[in-house]
Parts: sequence; structure tokens; C-alpha cells
Amino acid sequence: MRFLVLGSMNIDNTFSVDHIVREGETISSCSMKRSAGGKGANQAAALAKAGAEVYFAGKCGQDGKWILSLLESYGADISLSVIADCNTGMAMIQVDSRGQNSIVLDSGGNRLWRREEISIILSHFSPGDVIVLQNEINDIPYIISEAKRHGMLVVLNPSPFDCLISTFPLSDVDLFFVNEIEGKALTGKDDFADILCEFGRIYKSASIVLTCGKKGAYAKDGDQVHYQEIIDYPVVDTTGAGDTFTGYYLASVFSGMGIEKALYRATEASAIAVSRSGAMAAIPAASELSS
Ligand code: RIB
Repeated sequence: MRFLVLGSMNIDNTFSVDHIVREGETISSCSMKRSAGGKGANQAAALAKAGAEVYFAGKCGQDGKWILSLLESYGADISLSVIADCNTGMAMIQVDSRGQNSIVLDSGGNRLWRREEISIILSHFSPGDVIVLQNEINDIPYIISEAKRHGMLVVLNPSPFDCLISTFPLSDVDLFFVNEIEGKALTGKDDFADILCEFGRIYKSASIVLTCGKKGAYAKDGDQVHYQEIIDYPVVDTTGAGDTFTGYYLASVFSGMGIEKALYRATEASAIAVSRSGAMAAIPAASELSS
């Protein structure tokens, strides 16, 4: 079983600020760092660092080749990525003194995928392989349907959330990763238990992982619901914590570790990630986890 992350890659420009800039305000940052990011690339990095066999297919310009090299150094196969005549995706990230962030994206190559390119990528995969998708590239509905036609298991992290997501062929999704906001938007429910229950009712054959920030994370598989509380680490930068969680959960659960252990490892990996600055660079190696 192999993972394919067909997803975004960004050059993250991270400004450390006292507070997130308000409307009409101009502020100076304490520092600015350029590093590798993008939800797709981060999740591929987490899968690779966790020891999974992962292929990353991203689209970037010449200015993004170093991100692909970094992913390769973590063990991801980047041979299906495309370097085109375009800019690489760019993120402008503010991280405040409490480690919270706000992000503005310029999509660059991430939203320039053509269907012929997507078909070539999917032709390398077989029934039982797993495709991991987020919402930072174009043509996600087509990719979901085509991946399903190839017999792949479809994992969707509908982030960043927008109103078009409810028009996607969500009944083809096998496993959702949603946070509280996404869970509420997709089910119309507020309470965590109700969100899980409603997901089970609407998407009968899908499993769901619901992350609730400081209130921990839930995984629902059939009638079984598992819960993992947070593991406390000092918060430096929350950017990419969700991506770390997703990659570690997938690598763990698909290697047969069981849901309880996968939730624990994903929670520990993301706790370590928030104690460091940056997105991809902050993802821990498997050897740094306690189990
Ligand atoms: O999830 C964090 C990521 O979101 C950042 O790396 C940024 O590039 C945006 O895609």
C-alpha cells in the first residue's frame, strides 16, 4: 500500500509579530523566515518522516525546486511532481506571541493542474493505494472521482474550507480529517458528539477524524468512537500542526497500529511540532516520539 499526496506546496514567509495585524494597521515584525510549507507538502513530509511509502505530486516553478529536494531528503518520492513555467505557491504567515497564526495564500502552480497531468499521475497507482487530498489545489472533485475509479482509498482534509466543498463528491471519500469549524460547516451541528453522529449518518461508509484543538481529537470508525486528549507542550508556532497530525495518523493506522495508538502518535507528533517554529521543518522524526 502506497500513499499519494496530490497537493499544494508553498514557500512560507513567516512574520513573527506581537499580534495579528488589524484592519488599517501597519506593524513591524520581530523577524521574518522563509521556509517550506503547503498543506500537501507538509502532510507528505509527515507521512515520510513517520516511515510511510509516500509519493508527493506538487506543481511549482523553478523557485520551488528546493522544497521538492527537502521532501526527497525526508524519504518522499517526488518523481511525479511537475516543474512548470509558473510561480511556486506562496504563503504570507503571521505568527503572534501566543503562537497563533493567520495565513494569506497566493496559489501559484497549486491551482494550475491540468486533467492530462492528473491522469498520468493516477495511472501509477493501484486499487488499495491511498490518495491524500486537501483543498489548496484546483479540480479536487475530478481528482476524487478519478481516484475512486482507480480503486484508491480517498482521504480528504477539506482545508482551507470554502463553500464549494459541500458540492464535491463527498460520498466517494473514505476518510475525512476535519477540525471543529469544518465539521460544523459540513454537518450543521455544534456539539462534537453530534458532528460525529451526523457524519456517520450522511457519509455512511466513511471514517472521520475530528480534531478539536485544546479539546483533543476523536476518531469514528463504524460505531466505534475513540478519543485522545491533548499532550501539553509549550506553544511556539501552530502552523502545520494539523498537517503533522494527519500524516502521522495515516502512517500509523495504515501500518496496522490501531486507531488508539494512531491517535496518540498523531497527537504527540503535532504537540512536538507546535513547540517549534515553521511548518514542514517542525514535523518531528518518528524517533522523537515515545512510541
Ligand atoms: O497548514 C499549514 C500550511 O498552510 C502552511 O505551510 C501554508 O503554506 C498553508 O498552506
